[in-house]
Amino acid sequence: MLKLPIPVKELASRLLKWYRENRRELPWRTDSDPYRVWVSEIMLQQTQVKTVVPYFEEFLRTYPNIEALADAQENEILSAWSGLGYYKRARNLHKTAQILCEQHGGEFPRDFSQVLQLPGIGPYTAGAILSLAYGEPVPILDGNISRLFSRYLKIEGVLEGSTLAQLQKFLVQLVSEASVSENIRDFNQALMEMGALVCTPRNPQCVSCPLAASCLAYQKGLEKTLPRPRTRRAVQEFHYTVALIARGEKYLLTQNWEDTFLRGFWEFPRIQGPPTPRLAEKFKKTHGLHLKVREKTAPVAHRITFRKLNFHPVLVSLQSPAPHQKFTWTRPGQKGYPVSSYIKKILNSLES
Ligand code: ADE
Repeated sequence: MLKLPIPVKELASRLLKWYRENRRELPWRTDSDPYRVWVSEIMLQQTQVKTVVPYFEEFLRTYPNIEALADAQENEILSAWSGLGYYKRARNLHKTAQILCEQHGGEFPRDFSQVLQLPGIGPYTAGAILSLAYGEPVPILDGNISRLFSRYLKIEGVLEGSTLAQLQKFLVQLVSEASVSENIRDFNQALMEMGALVCTPRNPQCVSCPLAASCLAYQKGLEKTLPRPRTRRAVQEFHYTVALIARGEKYLLTQNWEDTFLRGFWEFPRIQGPPTPRLAEKFKKTHGLHLKVREKTAPVAHRITFRKLNFHPVLVSLQSPAPHQKFTWTRPGQKGYPVSSYIKKILNSLES
């Protein structure tokens, strides 16, 4: 059984006081509009606050409400998302906006299980939306908050399976207490903020922590040891040769419908494997392109979740026109032609 080392009321008042004095002014904290909360929480999945801030503001200017997002073209949403990574989030945002308009009168539902059914929304994001937007007393169990409690309560098991379920149960109980539920918006934000600023993964700032005096890990000198690391999914490496065919500022790009990653994005024509003497033949076979190789340049690495993609650029010229239906001549980054940030990395690598 997990047990708080101090009364709930004291925990809540320490956290809320700390939050009032130390909170960062972030654009999604200006009000509790569900649309803003939802978009920010999706952007903040796997992405740092400082990266998200400019994207969030621009995205809200482009798509100021659920209807505007539902009516947009997926290609344009992907362009607005370009550089944030994990593009499935943008597609799910679009799908969810359409479902909200078609089935929920253009509003976010207040019911946890209904929110959970929306694409791209798991228990964490559902908890964030319901608590931050609607003030419902539901917990958020993200990486920051689970790290904080694994230390505060000195949870020694790896945070998965039954250990995580136990923590979830503990938090459900915790947020039902009046001193927490009456302040749920600030309480949940305070926990997230503590996880981001004080109870950080590598060097927790225990000297400025309002809970240090009662933190069970801190008392035993375990604050840097907990939580115990999870076993990581092995990184898989892939190699691709990409053909750079320039016409002024434009390049020949093709839309990817082949792979599960980067699906729908416009890319340089690419073939599997690092460059070989037979690469012109392979480009002919795979893309119907008749190329002449001019120069090979240094490879560029790009991580997408557990995949490490190594792109080997070759500068080539076209010996006969590209088949129309598959290709476009485009300036990378042009609206309506979403590109992954690996394209920019390759272009930058040519300049250096
Ligand atoms: N990370 C996830 N959600 C957040 C929020 N609302 N504020 C700051 N960081 C976050």
